[in-house]
Amino acid sequence: MKYALIGCGRVSVNHINAAVDNGLDIVGLCDIVPGKARLKAIETGLSDNIPCYTDYMKMIEDQKPELVAIATVSGAHAKIAVDCINAGCNVIIEKPMAMSIEDADKIIEAENRNGVKVCANHQNRFNDAVQHMRDALLGGRFGKLFYGAVSVRWMRDESYYKNDDWRGTWKNDGGTLMNQCIHAIDLLRWMMGDELTEVIGVTDNLNHPYIEGEDIGLAVLRFKNGSYGLLDGTVNTFGGDYEETLALFGQDGFAKLGGTCVNKIDEWRFSDGNDIETAHKTGIGENPPNVYGFGHRSLYTDMIEAIKTDRAPYIDSAAGKRALEAVLAIYKSSAEKRPVSLPLKNVATTDFIGLFDKK
Ligand SMILES: NC(=O)c1ccc[n+]([C@@H]2O[C@H](COP(=O)([O-])OP(=O)(O)OC[C@H]3O[C@@H](n4cnc5c(N)ncnc54)[C@H](O)[C@@H]3O)[C@@H](O)[C@H]2O)c1
Repeated sequence: MKYALIGCGRVSVNHINAAVDNGLDIVGLCDIVPGKARLKAIETGLSDNIPCYTDYMKMIEDQKPELVAIATVSGAHAKIAVDCINAGCNVIIEKPMAMSIEDADKIIEAENRNGVKVCANHQNRFNDAVQHMRDALLGGRFGKLFYGAVSVRWMRDESYYKNDDWRGTWKNDGGTLMNQCIHAIDLLRWMMGDELTEVIGVTDNLNHPYIEGEDIGLAVLRFKNGSYGLLDGTVNTFGGDYEETLALFGQDGFAKLGGTCVNKIDEWRFSDGNDIETAHKTGIGENPPNVYGFGHRSLYTDMIEAIKTDRAPYIDSAAGKRALEAVLAIYKSSAEKRPVSLPLKNVATTDFIGLFDKK
């Protein structure tokens, strides 16, 4: 299957490796900065003959890839996605899928109109530990769900933001909830049954005065099934990335995933009392080299199969929109200092320009 990548920055290595591991025919790399795509090809050991571009439409016209991955700055995702979809490509879009509900809807509309597939890149859903939790949930082992809690306690310093001027801006990134925490927010919403009805959120910028977005976000979420969600996310953790955790509390079970990126099972207790299983499961986990984890490979495997067998990808465009919507709802609640009901209409990160600026 012919494959091309748009955006050759930090996360592009995960995409190239996933494409290679899945046997994709890489027909092009594109980055708007001249020379960057070629450098990435060399760095990742791709053939010298890989065509490299600065204009993604030229690449699509020349190479006609069946599958395209978009790993550019977040603010560019939606336009590039719609252009690729309209050219007949299936697309994997890095998170967040878009920066506004309107743009997410444009992607979904183009997907439906062109009969292609769109996958939202929330790769942590494929972590072993997350898959074990999902299986237990779908098997009914938690019983009635009471609440789910996620924590993202990471650290991003001044150099991280200053090296790339799009980071932390409302137009192209958002704050830590939209960038770092959206994976955990996706997992929380998905595990709790997707139907999020209300959000109470508080965000602030305590330690990164040079960015527009927040560096801490706290939220209470209310789900249609009567359960609750709890979130704390920050890039202010002294000493580096500490943890990304997800805990589910049910009538018949309690499980907690931990590690730096929900990559381990810390607790595993169920009323069916399978002690052997508990001993076995606790401590299960992968040890990825960074918080991006290993999930890109499985996400690609799934997307390729979805295209070949004409089924929906495991993480589809609707899932991407749901994660985006949850973050935007927290921002709106924080800006308006009141609970916000979902579904949201016409909210964009750019709505928040200036709203949180300290007087
Ligand atoms: N899934 C994950 O775990 C994960 C991890 C890191 C980043 N991301 C996401 O991936 C995206 C990229 O993040 P990054 O850290 O690699 O950023 P980065 O700044 O390192 O790389 C982005 C690249 O996109 C290029 N670019 C921008 N506009 C372009 C255009 N129109 N055409 C072609 N190239 C263009 C830039 O020149 C840059 O090289 C972001 O949306 C981010 O949220 C996801």
